[in-house]
Amino acid sequence: MRLILHKLLLAFMHLWLWWSSSNHVHVDAADDSLKPGDIFNSSSQLYSKSRKYFLDFYSIQSLHKAFTYLAIHSAYDTTVVWKGNRDQIVHPSDPVLSLNFSGVLKIESSSLKKPIILYSSPQPINNTVATLLDTGNFVLQHLHSNGTTTLLWQSFDYPTDTLIPTMKLGVNHKTGHRWLLYSQLTYGRATPGTFNLEWEPREQELVIRRRGKVCWKSGKLRNNRFEHIPEDAQGVLKYSILSNGDEDTFSFTSTNESHTRWWYLWDIGRLSYNEKEGYVARADLCYGYNNTDGCQRWEDIPKCRIPGDVFTKKNLRPNYENFTFDMNQNITYSECEAACWSDCNCNGFTEIYEDRSGCRFYHWNSSKDYIVDGTVSGQDIYLLENKGNIIAHRHGTKRWIWITTVIAATLLIICASILCLAIKKRKHLLQEKKRKEMSLIEDFGNDLNKKHGLKVLDYTLVVAATNEFSSDNKIGQGGFGPVYKGTLPTGEEVAIKRLSRSSAQGIVEFKNELTLICELQHMNLVQLLGCCIHEEEKILIYEYMPNKSLDFYLFDCTRSKLLDWNKRFNIIQGIAQGLLYLHKYSRLKVIHRDLKASNILLDENMNPKISDFGMARMFTQQDSISNTNRVVGTYGYMSPEYAMEGIFSTKSDVYSFGVLLLEIVSGRKNTSFYDDDHPLNLVGHVWELWKDDKYFELVDPSLNEVFDHEEVQRCIHIGLLCVEHYANDRPTMSDIISMLTSKSLIVSLPQKPAFYVQRYMYKENLSSLELCTGSTV
Ligand SMILES: *[C@@H]1O[C@H](CO)[C@@H](O)[C@H](O)[C@H]1NC(C)=O
Ligand SMILES: *[C@@H]1O[C@H](CO)[C@@H](O)[C@H](O)[C@H]1NC(C)=O
Ligand SMILES: *[C@@H]1O[C@H](CO)[C@@H](O)[C@H](O)[C@H]1NC(C)=O
Ligand SMILES: *[C@@H]1O[C@H](CO)[C@@H](O)[C@H](O)[C@H]1NC(C)=O
Ligand SMILES: *[C@@H]1O[C@H](CO)[C@@H](O)[C@H](O)[C@H]1NC(C)=O
Ligand SMILES: *[C@@H]1O[C@H](CO)[C@@H](O)[C@H](O)[C@H]1NC(C)=O
Ligand SMILES: *[C@@H]1O[C@H](CO)[C@@H](O)[C@H](O)[C@H]1NC(C)=O
Ligand SMILES: *[C@@H]1O[C@H](CO)[C@@H](O)[C@H](O)[C@H]1NC(C)=O
Ligand SMILES: *[C@@H]1O[C@H](CO)[C@@H](O)[C@H](O)[C@H]1NC(C)=O
Repeated sequence: MRLILHKLLLAFMHLWLWWSSSNHVHVDAADDSLKPGDIFNSSSQLYSKSRKYFLDFYSIQSLHKAFTYLAIHSAYDTTVVWKGNRDQIVHPSDPVLSLNFSGVLKIESSSLKKPIILYSSPQPINNTVATLLDTGNFVLQHLHSNGTTTLLWQSFDYPTDTLIPTMKLGVNHKTGHRWLLYSQLTYGRATPGTFNLEWEPREQELVIRRRGKVCWKSGKLRNNRFEHIPEDAQGVLKYSILSNGDEDTFSFTSTNESHTRWWYLWDIGRLSYNEKEGYVARADLCYGYNNTDGCQRWEDIPKCRIPGDVFTKKNLRPNYENFTFDMNQNITYSECEAACWSDCNCNGFTEIYEDRSGCRFYHWNSSKDYIVDGTVSGQDIYLLENKGNIIAHRHGTKRWIWITTVIAATLLIICASILCLAIKKRKHLLQEKKRKEMSLIEDFGNDLNKKHGLKVLDYTLVVAATNEFSSDNKIGQGGFGPVYKGTLPTGEEVAIKRLSRSSAQGIVEFKNELTLICELQHMNLVQLLGCCIHEEEKILIYEYMPNKSLDFYLFDCTRSKLLDWNKRFNIIQGIAQGLLYLHKYSRLKVIHRDLKASNILLDENMNPKISDFGMARMFTQQDSISNTNRVVGTYGYMSPEYAMEGIFSTKSDVYSFGVLLLEIVSGRKNTSFYDDDHPLNLVGHVWELWKDDKYFELVDPSLNEVFDHEEVQRCIHIGLLCVEHYANDRPTMSDIISMLTSKSLIVSLPQKPAFYVQRYMYKENLSSLELCTGSTV
């Protein structure tokens, strides 16, 4: 049996996101405004007057890249409500927002050829000010000498995927400007994607379009309510409609100041509020044959699709992979779904890339082509099903319709009589279900506690430990939720990760995954200490690592001096032991798949601990090679067979270990060598030195030549063996440990490694690294 942790597990151990953002320095601007000449960079923040919103440069990690945006956040839960540079991303380290003496508001960065101009007036104006208002609107105003102001530009005119109170949707008849929400392309990429939310003034209703085609309507606004929006979502809202010669617009405010709403349009077409699972509209469920809940009927539904056909997410293992695929990263879930829907041969699809872009379509003849058995974990596949029955539509769709009709008619008669009884019973059942769920959570807690010694903490305790999730305690913002430092009543310091509420994982899956992670216990692995479930919140508690991650020391000129050779050798051995445990001695064989310096955390004695099992896959000990259609990991650390063919095994981790080992010896990032004239990565560079017997030149100058020559030579040798092109030529982790520890000669000689040259999104910040090594040599 092969168990695969699915994507949401990413959320659990993305501790590195916390480290990567922990260098963030909070520089609060003296006030809420930017004046001509002020510099606003990646360490600046502007807070609105009563600190309801703040503006900063914000980075999200997706597809191994950092996407950095000028963002307005709600200070309440730090969610991003607006992004200033949706189409052009900027380099994470050096974006600058500025307002100059001609009244030009712009974003500059080394990665941009031209600045992104947010506002530029026809004539230079030198008396301007840009202010973040308490409504969350960032406005640029012209200050006149008589004390009045004119509005020049406002962020509310360029909505992104979030509608906040007082922000408008609609049209300005004078300028023709339209205010509408666009969904993002993917989680990290803010480029406008498939869906729009618009205000339709003629019908007085909200509509969601999918690539221009209306797929959902709210129904006319009557008595401050939209028919097709659930009451939960509009309870505290007061809608305002403005209709005159100048404009036709819609906006809302909240009747309860402490209970307000933001509406988010997801990349999959769902409109939800305040990141809860509650929704305003489910355009993702609109297939066009059904007009319930505001969904619209379409004329052009393929004949092979019948009412009740829906895509259901399943974990399947294909027997035969009869598939076609579209590798275009610009198409995402909803387009894959639409394409599969209109192709009668298609009965399922998966996304290709980690950020849910790209599609792979399955053309299966029958249900024999895949295994649905719950004991087998496979890939997340969206399978076309009809009311729970898997139907091969290719064969005799008509006959099925006929049979279904007869059965349905018979059932209808029976049902009508049962219905009355059922309604009575239903209420009872619902209560029962709730009770069951509660007891499930309870059992879950007891179970984890007994079997795995995992603490199940009370929510109030977690709240107290983090000072009500105060921003002072926040040590990082990961893609899947913020990480806080917390102190338990016992005085124990812990890292608390609050998973974002949008991860729609059920209690049972959450439990299974937690159980798997709990099984992993080794001094060189970061330990999960506990968890906490409270309503929709899922919280994970890890041991706190005071010394951050390896890359924090290794790749910094001054801090690298703190890592002398003995410490480095100890770190190398610790990582090797941790990996050996994952590969060999844990009950399930675990392939980490994303081993890199930032995933190695250091405890107070600088002992290494491997973190982030977000991409890990688990196998029984016999089953060890696998193939994946979703290549995840970090370029530079990925073995060639994995990066190019998606095949991974424990030897892929060995490859990453080799790269890491060479990085520890040299104190340089694998990618830091790359430049146009010298297109080699670290691995290529080491090989060149090894070939010429000059490999001591590789050793980090920060060590000041104080190191054990024999050990260093041994490490470089092992490193080169680990990065061999063919997986079979690479040693196993147990070989590596014996080579590291024994003083005997290593028999095999390395061959030319698999170094291949990649293109990078940004050039790494070479200059500082070069300076650093240059000045100390
Ligand atoms: C941002 O600007 C301030 C003041 O000009 C400077 O001290 C700081 O180093 C800058 N931060 C970054 C990350 O560039
Ligand atoms: C303001 O920025 C714009 C655009 O970059 C530039 O053309 C203009 O010269 C700048 N004005 C001043 C006073 O620096
Ligand atoms: C702004 O413009 C006014 C009048 O046009 C001028 O007196 C003043 O010196 C200018 N200030 C700057 C900083 O350019
Ligand atoms: C203030 O000055 C501006 C520009 O000089 C002008 O457009 C506006 O009408 C003036 N307002 C008042 C109240 O005088
Ligand atoms: C406003 O919302 C808060 C939080 O939900 C609630 O506790 C409070 O009772 C509400 N106030 C009013 C006046 O409805
Ligand atoms: C119609 O669409 C809704 C979603 O809007 C869905 O919940 C419902 O099951 C669909 N009805 C049928 C018969 O498929
Ligand atoms: C995706 O879109 C971007 C920008 O719209 C474009 O530059 C790029 O070529 C597109 N990629 C593909 C594979 O179509
Ligand atoms: C794959 O599916 C297509 C489309 O249904 C079918 O024509 C073809 O025979 C299948 N090929 C294999 C190898 O199963
Ligand atoms: C699908 O059916 C075709 C023709 O009936 C057959 O040749 C093909 O092998 C089948 N494909 C699979 C995956 O079973």
